[in-house]
Amino acid sequence: MKKIEIISATPELLKSPFSGSIMKRAIEKGIVEIKFHDLKDYSVNNKKQIDDYQFGGGSGMVLMIEPIKKCVDELKKQHDYDEVIFMTPDAPILSQKISNELSIKGNLIILCGHYKGIDQRVRDAIVTREISIGDYVLSGGELPAAVLCDSIVRLIPGVLNDETSALTDSFQDNLLAPPVYTRPANYNGMKVPEILLSGNKKKIEEWREEKSLIKTKTIRPDLID
Ligand code: ADE
Repeated sequence: MKKIEIISATPELLKSPFSGSIMKRAIEKGIVEIKFHDLKDYSVNNKKQIDDYQFGGGSGMVLMIEPIKKCVDELKKQHDYDEVIFMTPDAPILSQKISNELSIKGNLIILCGHYKGIDQRVRDAIVTREISIGDYVLSGGELPAAVLCDSIVRLIPGVLNDETSALTDSFQDNLLAPPVYTRPANYNGMKVPEILLSGNKKKIEEWREEKSLIKTKTIRPDLID
């Protein structure tokens, strides 16, 4: 079973994304184990301190190295981990390729940043990989960690009921997914494309490929270049 350990100063923010839908099912099926670790429990002084002012001045508190090192060391005493991932906006942006790669790796530790940042020595000495979920700044790494986990977990075999459905996602072949429709076939004159009602599997597949290509060229031409 793949273990994902998420280290955070505000683990309560993490709960809901894991308590429903696909991630909940993956946990219940025993395919993945996801645990939250409160950085405050690893403080090395009796004030439960985990952050401090930055050297050289400047606004905002910086997460200290000691509690993070202590937490990671305790985890590593019990299991092996393939990556210690730090969620931060100043990092390479998450892609389907990265999610695919991480889904076939072993256990993972994900570290959430907050406030002004984290002592650079954590990034230099403990973290093995840094990931951003996009060019915008959130208040902490918890939502990005949940985004990363969701994108990884749904790719693990056995998690999705229909094994092929992850393969037909947008980005899996560098194309956006084609449009999909369900009943009613005619909604106030807005009709579902005839071809989808034809039962002709080959024609439907060709239609989907064409729509994928047109959609990608229009919305995300960069994916085709
Ligand atoms: N923490 C704050 N903003 C973030 C982002 N865009 N991606 C990853 N972690 C973050």
